[in-house]
This record gives sequence, C-alpha cells and structure tokens, in this order.
Amino acid sequence: MKAIILAAGVGKRLAGAGEGLPKCLIPAGTQTLLERMVRSLLKLEVSPIVIVVGYRQDDLRQEIAAKLPAAGVRFAVNENYTRGNLLSAWSAREDFDDDFILMDADVLFHDEILRRLVQSRHPNAFLLDRYFENDGEATLVAGLGGRVVGFDRALRGPHDILGESVGFFRISRTLCPAFLQALRRYVDAGDLDAYYDFALTDLLKTHPFGYEDVSGLPWTEIDFPEDLERGRQEILPRIDSPLLLRRCTLLNPGPGNVTETVRRSVSDVPDVCHREREFFEVMRFVRTELVRIAGGNPATHSTVVFSGSGTAAVEAAVASAVPESGTLLVVDNGVYGDRMKKIADAHRIPCRTLKYGWTEAARPADIDAALSADPAVTHVAAVHHETTTGLLNPVHEIGQVVARHGRAFIADAMSSFAGERLDLVRDHVDFAVSSSNKCIQGLAGLSFVIARRDRLEALSGARPRSVYLDLYNQWKQEEADNTPFTPAIPIFFSLRQAIEELYRETLEGRIARYARCARALRGGMTRLGFRILVPEESRSNLLTAFLLPCGLRYDPLHDAMKRRGYVIYAGQGDLKKIAFRIANLGILTPDDMDGVVVAVRDSLAELGISTVAYDTASA
Ligand SMILES: Cc1ncc(COP(=O)(O)O)c(C=O)c1O
Repeated sequence: MKAIILAAGVGKRLAGAGEGLPKCLIPAGTQTLLERMVRSLLKLEVSPIVIVVGYRQDDLRQEIAAKLPAAGVRFAVNENYTRGNLLSAWSAREDFDDDFILMDADVLFHDEILRRLVQSRHPNAFLLDRYFENDGEATLVAGLGGRVVGFDRALRGPHDILGESVGFFRISRTLCPAFLQALRRYVDAGDLDAYYDFALTDLLKTHPFGYEDVSGLPWTEIDFPEDLERGRQEILPRIDSPLLLRRCTLLNPGPGNVTETVRRSVSDVPDVCHREREFFEVMRFVRTELVRIAGGNPATHSTVVFSGSGTAAVEAAVASAVPESGTLLVVDNGVYGDRMKKIADAHRIPCRTLKYGWTEAARPADIDAALSADPAVTHVAAVHHETTTGLLNPVHEIGQVVARHGRAFIADAMSSFAGERLDLVRDHVDFAVSSSNKCIQGLAGLSFVIARRDRLEALSGARPRSVYLDLYNQWKQEEADNTPFTPAIPIFFSLRQAIEELYRETLEGRIARYARCARALRGGMTRLGFRILVPEESRSNLLTAFLLPCGLRYDPLHDAMKRRGYVIYAGQGDLKKIAFRIANLGILTPDDMDGVVVAVRDSLAELGISTVAYDTASA
C-alpha cells in the first residue's frame, strides 16, 4: 500500500502563526507535521510515499532529505498550488496504480488513527470522529448501515452515524480508475478551484466506502492559528502520552470500550479534595443526571453513589431497603438473581425465591400469585437484564404487579441501565441499581442506587445491616454535599464526561445503536451457522449467548479472537461448556459487530472448523 500526501498548499488562513512556512513544515514538538506523518507511515510499512509539493517545494524536499533520506519518498509537483486542492490529487495520478492512503498534510494525529485506516477491512474507507464542534468548518462524514452516505459541510439525508472527517482516505487499486475519472471531470471542465472532496462525494454515489470510527483519539487539522495553539497545547501531549493503548474490542458485558475523552478525563482530574466544592459540583451533577436518565424527577427521586463495583450497590439496596420485619421475594433466572438471594441470606433477610431456568424470562403472573399467596413479602427483587445469558425480564410488567400489591420493587438494572428502556416512574421501580462501567459508558469503580425519595426517607431510623453499604447514611451525606467515606474521585469525573457524551448521543440514540449492534451481530453469526441460547422474544439488545458448535471449545476460540483484537466472554458456571457470550455495549457500532463476525469466521478457519454444526441434542 502506498501513501499520497497532499502538501502543496500555501496555508493562507494560518497567517503569521506559520511564519510563512508551508503548513506541514510547522514544528509540533520536536518534529514538523510532515516528518511526523512520514514516520507514522513508515511504522505501518506503508510505502512508497509520494508527496505532492508546490508552495516552497524546495523546503519540503530539503526537510525530507535532511530528516528522512532513507524513507524512499518521491515527489509529484502541482504548479497550480494556489488553486483548489483537487489539482494536487490530480498531480499524483501516475501513482493511482495500487491501494493507497490519501492524506492532507496539515493534520497532527496519533498513529492509532492511521493504523485503523491502513488496517481497515474496508478496501475503500473514510475516517470519522463523532466528537466534533459543529462550527460549520468541519467536513462531515455520514454513515448508514456501515457505509458512508454523505461527505459534506452540511448534513443531508438519513444516517446512523455522523462525524468529522479526519482528511485521510483509503482508496483501493480497483477504485483507482473511477477516482481518476472523477477528478478528470473537474479538470476537463476547467474547474481549477475544485476540491478533491468533490470527486470523493461523486464516487460515493456509485461505489461503496466503509468508515473507521476514531472518535476521541487525538488529532487536529491545522487551519487557523487557534488550531496550531490547540495542537501544541492539547493534542501533542496526548499523542505523546503512553496511556493511549491500542484499542482492543471488548465484547464482555462491561467494562466496555470507552471513548478516549472518557478515559483521558481521569488523568485530567486535578488534585481534588473530596470535601471541597470542586468535587461536590461533579457529584451533584452525576447524581442529578442519573435520576433523569432513569426517567425520574430529581424532586421525587435521588441517586446514592457508592465507590465499589456493581455488587456494592446491589448489596446496599437489598440490605438497606428490606426492614427487619420484611421479607424479600427474589426472581432468580441467572447468576445475578441468585446473587441477590445470597446477599439476602448473608444479611439474614427472610427470602423466598421464584426460580426459573436460565433461558426462561420471569412471568409477571407468577409474581402476582406469589404476592397474593404470601402477605409477608414486602419487597421484590429482579434482574432487568440477566447478563448471565442475555435474557431480558419484563421489568415493566413486574413493576406493575408489585405496585398493585403495594410492595416495593428493587431492580438490578446493572447491565441494562441506559441500554434498554427503563423508566422508574412508568415501570414502578422503587430502587434501581447500576454501575459506571456498563451502558453509561464510564470507567469501573462506582455503582449507584436510584430510588424514590420517599422510599429513602422511610429508611430513617432503621438499624443498618452494614456500615459501608448503608443506603440511608450514604444518601443523607451525599444530599448534604458530603460523603461518609473517601470516594473514587477520578471515576466521578469520568462519569460526568460519560454522561455528557450520552446526552450528545441521546438516550434514544444509544438504545437504538445497541439494538442495531445486536442485530448486526446476530445476523452475521446466524449466517455463519451459530445458534443463540435464549429464545428470540426474551433477548436483550446488549448481549448474546451463542451455543458452542461441535468441535469448538471456548478457550481456543477466546484465544484466537484475542489474537485478532477481540475479547469474548465465557459462559458462567456450567454454561462455559456449552455457550460463549458476546456483548455489544460500550462505544461499539454495527460496523464493529460486522468486524466481530469476520473475526469469528477467521478464528474458526484457524481452528480448523470448516462448518458450524450442532448435534441434535443441542437443537
Ligand atoms: C445484572 C448484573 N448484576 C450485578 C452485576 C455485578 O456487578 P459487578 O461485577 O460490577 O460487581 C453484574 C455484572 O456484570 C450484572 O451484570
């Protein structure tokens, strides 16, 4: 694969800030933009590298000769460099004879961005970053169904993903003649001020382009003096930071992949005391917005945040909500239902269990009958999304039944909150539990109970069963802008960032994206021949348990997938022998899920499994 770098322009908009240098010769750290770019290409073994020069071309040639004499760089010349950049692409046309990466030279970027394009499974691809400022300057890339459908400053038409173009494109050898033809139309029409973007837009109408999502990775185009300033102050330190890991696609049900901005928000946290205003403002924001995301009203609902994994908040809810005289009815159709039962037992809380098979959704009529039969039951606890298998319990119907009986409902919404429809008011949930690292797309370390204020207030005076997991005490202190114990301060900051990003995507948008991801995954895996453990009508949109076909064991599949950059998840307990799990939460897109399917197919080939088949017993 070769690279064509367009570096002929004058960079007028940079005015004095560039000191008259061609933009790509502006230093960023110890290297110029051009030197950085060429070095990035060399690391990825992209060669040859063709640089289209024009303005002060001798300076560019000298830069390469002085810094990278062995890089095998060739030059093409655009004498009309003061006109549109389409002429620069046109000047490199003799090199349109192989797969190539087309690059604007005025971009400061992390190597990972280029790697994703070079190693993209799309022969023709754009890059897009979903986190952009829509100031009218950004060239936008719109995608629909994994395909680029728009490339423009203004957005038109339906799309399911929208981001800013990074200014790098991948064009396959097969597409070269069509790209040449698209450029030629403008050249022949004498349109010397055209941009090569026009030709790409024309091509989109007739040829499929995929995209790679590089949201949150550090990059900036250098157009204006402010860009240069931001590039040096903000982007460069992130590019040089060893913290930016190569992304591994996490298919476990949380923690999922998070945006670079969420990950980075932890390291950006200043030294903060948790008893100072700087922290309380963040805690207040997080607590209030979690209520809103749950469909509650901050006047009638409140959030209690614990520093600890999800189980901490589940235990706090169960151990605090059920009074000494109370009895809990646990709906158990998986590991997490069973865990609530274990928590109740550990705290000596009288407990009844409504047990189902692991692929069987709870039936509200059974809960109705159980509550009618047993007036001692004061609380019902059920898992909304049983992450054990990907089973969705009918939380709305259960909530209705519990409310009709005048009992209280504790819903473990750990892996469904912000991923499936859940509305505390409409669904009559009194205590909902989740954590920072599932569908809210933050980092691990915090868990929370969102509850009706009157239910929390009613806990006043009760003898706590736990010191740390005392829901009432934690709530009262947080309400007073305080915390009884030292909280995971940086995780609060990253949760705030994650919530802001959720608002940008919108709750509806996120739920819809997860549904599209699940469809893409299940469609692709079913086409490969895989069967799904849970019946269709009870499946969540967040996780799928696939049955292991004949001859396939979990561990080799896991390792083969990991070699390809994907982390799949074992079935729990005995399920490991018959099924494996793939979750699609985190920042993943349907396109990522297509990639998962390709990786599964390739892993099967590597493991010598030519057909996915089941014996009749597992049908
Ligand atoms: C439904 C459900 N409940 C509880 C938990 C426990 O959360 P944690 O492992 O963070 O303690 C999980 C974890 O995945 C879960 O999926």
